[in-house]
Amino acid sequence: MNGSKDLMRVSGLQKRFDNKTVVNDVSFTLAPGEIKGIIGPSGAGKSTLIRCLNGLEPVDGGQVWLDDIELTARRADLDALRARIGFVFQDFNLFTHLTVRRNVTLGLIRVKKMSRRDAETVAERELARVGLANKLDAYPAELSGGQQQRVSIARALAMEPELMLFDEPTSALDPQSVGSVLRVMRQLVAEGMTMIIVSHEMAFIEAVADDVLFMVDGAIVEEGSAKQIFHHPEQQATRAFIDGIAAAMVGDIENQATSA
Ligand SMILES: Nc1ncnc2c1ncn2[C@@H]1O[C@H](COP(=O)(O)OP(=O)(O)O)[C@@H](O)[C@H]1O
Ligand SMILES: [Mg+2]
Repeated sequence: MNGSKDLMRVSGLQKRFDNKTVVNDVSFTLAPGEIKGIIGPSGAGKSTLIRCLNGLEPVDGGQVWLDDIELTARRADLDALRARIGFVFQDFNLFTHLTVRRNVTLGLIRVKKMSRRDAETVAERELARVGLANKLDAYPAELSGGQQQRVSIARALAMEPELMLFDEPTSALDPQSVGSVLRVMRQLVAEGMTMIIVSHEMAFIEAVADDVLFMVDGAIVEEGSAKQIFHHPEQQATRAFIDGIAAAMVGDIENQATSA
């Protein structure tokens, strides 16, 4: 039972694919307004974990609570729960045959049962919020990656979620597009949105996260403030990961210098 004021509580979560444990006894809480960063190497189980948090993956053990409602319960009303949780995917997941406007209105009309007219008013407002007021009639293929990801964020925000989950929202973007998406996400932080962000953008996570989870092989190796995780990690594995990323960034800069 979730008796606290946490918006989300995850307890002993287990997820297996075939016989491989991909999420191993993961527990954490998320307070309203909290920004939680999740970092870790490729294959650590980060995507699987956050997909479990809105029922995109059925779990093999443990619980996820949203307020006092257990999302992992057999009889959970997943549609109603998902309407409270916005999800932003690495690869946008837009409907390519629909305009930007229709991508945003679809969920409002189908799930929230809004009239088309009301849905369009919301879509216009949310697309303006992410800087795309002039792209309402464009198709996804006509947009840059950063613009497509901002449509996906607007689509999630239009549902007025209580919580936003981001799975590597900038990993599929060209470097010029990354900044525009991170700016929109910073705006959400400033507005007090509750968020869980899986990302390799370490500087961004360090700047915005209240709490950071470092995952390896399905398990949380270390949880702490951004300051702890990035500057004073307690675990050797965390230090090695952070140092490795820092070294790779220096390598990139040196490569750019030599190729310039
Ligand atoms: N649908 C799936 N079926 C089987 N194995 C999967 C599936 N999705 C992910 N995995 C495996 O689970 C592990 C964790 O993957 P993932 O959650 O994508 O990690 P991350 O997001 O940290 O890179 C990997 O070994 C991956 O191959
Ligand atoms: Mg992933």
